[in-house]
Order: sequence, then structure tokens, then C-alpha cells
Amino acid sequence: MSSFWSWFIIIITIANILACFWLIRWTAKPRPNEGAATDTTGHVWDEDLTEYNKPMPRWWLNLFYITIVFALVYLVLFPGLGNFDGVLGWSQVSAYEEEVQEARAEYSEVYEQYAQTPIPELAKNASAMATGQRIFANNCAVCHGSDARGATGFPNLADGAWLYGGSPDAIKQSILHGRKGVMPSFGAALGTRGVEEVAAYVYSLNGREAPRAFVEAGAAKYQQLCVSCHGQDGEGNTAIGAPDLTDDAWLYGGSLESIKNTLVNGRQGRMPAQQELLGEERVHVVSAYVYSLSAMEDGAQ
Ligand code: HEC
Ligand code: HEC
Repeated sequence: MSSFWSWFIIIITIANILACFWLIRWTAKPRPNEGAATDTTGHVWDEDLTEYNKPMPRWWLNLFYITIVFALVYLVLFPGLGNFDGVLGWSQVSAYEEEVQEARAEYSEVYEQYAQTPIPELAKNASAMATGQRIFANNCAVCHGSDARGATGFPNLADGAWLYGGSPDAIKQSILHGRKGVMPSFGAALGTRGVEEVAAYVYSLNGREAPRAFVEAGAAKYQQLCVSCHGQDGEGNTAIGAPDLTDDAWLYGGSLESIKNTLVNGRQGRMPAQQELLGEERVHVVSAYVYSLSAMEDGAQ
């Protein structure tokens, strides 16, 4: 704040307080009434209602004086008069920082303890999981859903099917460093008919019916173009996040239409790295939370 505005505020504030003081003194004095020798104000309402002309009661006036004293003491102690910081040195920023410091000291001990607990064990700690759930709700639910069951393009984290592996370590790596899935587009390489055939083959991989001629032609093309990433039998590859094509878990939907879409346009799923945002300790706790979701579901590791 420039010193002009600072003084502007100081002068207006002080002048207001002085004006209040004067106003109280002025109204406290009994006023000479207009002419008559009675002790009323001389105003008459409804023909015979008159009003006494008496000073305000002492206790009532004192309340006003107290507010003025309070204002003056407050303005000396706390910031309020322009650039003057108040003799206590209090500020919103320092108060906030103090609270943050206290909270840090309180939590860091807890987080330190969590950080030393292996994920499978931490996943059984109820209060750690309550913390993990809060971290998840604040940072992950926008993409993965508040129940962690995902949506199109955002993997379900509670179903036991994993793009990058469901071991405690793989989960933590996914969260710490993020992931980038790259499924190239094959529209040009396959042509319209080729897309129909390969899509039919992929569609049939988890046991669904598709036209036989298409499936056979598609299988041959799959062996040429897709095995390197999705594996001989479509089982996927967690090293590059290539999904298992034989199960019921679909990242982009399992309808013939969505499979064709994936083939024609490719897909680039991106999981943002959380190391910078959350810090290693929080990532550890939320990893245990994610781990607990599917470990509970199928009792597996
Ligand atoms: C370079 C490796 C690579 C090749 C080659 C590749 N894919 Fe993929 N594919 C991926 C990755 C990685 C994903 C996951 C993309 C993501 O995470 O966004 C994927 C996703 C898919 C999906 C979506 C699965 C789902 O759960 O929704 C289908 C279907 C698919 N690929 C089929 C194929 C077919 C058919 C071929 C051969 C024509 C093929 N892919 C070739 C790496 C590959
Ligand atoms: C901006 C959206 C977004 C946010 C925020 C996000 N994720 Fe993800 N996450 C993704 C996407 C997309 C993928 C899949 C990446 C791919 O297709 O290769 C993914 C993948 C993952 C995986 C790997 C899943 C597997 O099947 O291997 C884990 C674990 C995960 N996220 C956990 C989290 C956690 C925990 C948080 C919060 C700290 C989080 N994500 C925040 C979008 C997000």
C-alpha cells in the first residue's frame, strides 16, 4: 500500500472514532426544549403522546465509550491503521504459517511411521486407510472415481485387473512416477476391412461370438501387428501397460464399436506423476489404500 492510501485510511479511521466520541457527548447533554417549561421534548404525537427530554442512562452511554476504548486498543495491538502492523506483530500470514507448522509437526511423525511400514501391512491399518481414502478423494477421485472404479479411459483400481501390475511396488511406481500408455493407431495399416477383422478377433478373445471368417483373418493380422505388445494370446504386458485383451476389464469399453475406435485412432492414456505433488510419504499411504481395494476383493496379492 502506498503511503498516501495508508494515511488516507489512518485519518478516516481516527476521524470516525473522534466523531463517534463527539456524537455520544452531544446526545448525552439534556437539550433546552422549545419554549415550554415542561421536561418533555415538546413533540406531540397522536394528539396527546409526549416524550420526556432526559439524557440517556449512564450505563448505556458507558457501553459506547467502551466500544471506543476497545477500537483504540485493537488498533494499537493489531494491524488496521494503514501500513501500521500493530505492536503484537500479528498477521494473517504469520497465523496461518504457525498453524501449518503445528500440523506438520503433528503429522510428520505419523507419516514417518507409515513410511516404514510395508504396503501390505499398512493396508490393514484402519487409521492409515482412513488417511489414504482422504488423499484419494482429494487427488485421485476426479479421474478414477470416488469409489476408484474408474471410467472410460481411467482404469478401475478396485477390480484386480492391472495395466502395470498390482504388486505393492508396481502400484507405488504407477503413482509416484505416473504412466503413459501408447497404443498406436492402425487405421492406415489395416484399412477398413482389416479393422473389422482384427476387432472381431479381439472381441472373441474373452469367449464372445464373432463371425468366424473375420476372426480367422483377424487372428493372422494380430500375430503380425499386435503380439509384440499384447502377447501371443492377448494376455497383455504390464511392462508397457498393454491391457490383457482376454478378460472382462476394459479401459476403453469392450463393445465392437469401441475396439474399432481404439484400432483406428490409437489411445494415449496418461497418469500424472504424484511425487512432486504429494511427496513420497503420502504416495506410500495412498498406494496402500489402492492396494487394499483389490486385495480385499479377491483376497489375492
Ligand atoms: C506398441 C505397443 C502396442 C501395439 C503394437 C498394439 N497395442 Fe494395443 N495397446 C497398447 C497399449 C499400451 C494400450 C493401452 C493404451 C492406454 O493405456 O491408453 C493398448 C490398448 C489396446 C486396446 C484397448 C483395450 C482396453 O482395455 O480398452 C485394444 C483393444 C488394443 N490395444 C488392441 C490392439 C490390437 C488389435 C493391436 C494390433 C493391431 C494392438 N493393440 C497393437 C499397446 C500396443
Ligand atoms: C488426470 C487424471 C488422473 C489422476 C488425477 C490420477 N490418475 Fe491414476 N491413472 C490415470 C490414467 C489415465 C491411468 C492409465 C494410464 C494408461 O492408460 O496407461 C492411470 C493409472 C493409474 C494406476 C495404474 C493402474 C493399472 O491398472 O496399472 C494407478 C495405480 C493409479 N492410476 C493410481 C492413482 C492414484 C492413487 C491417484 C491419486 C494420487 C491417481 N491415480 C490420480 C489418470 C489419473
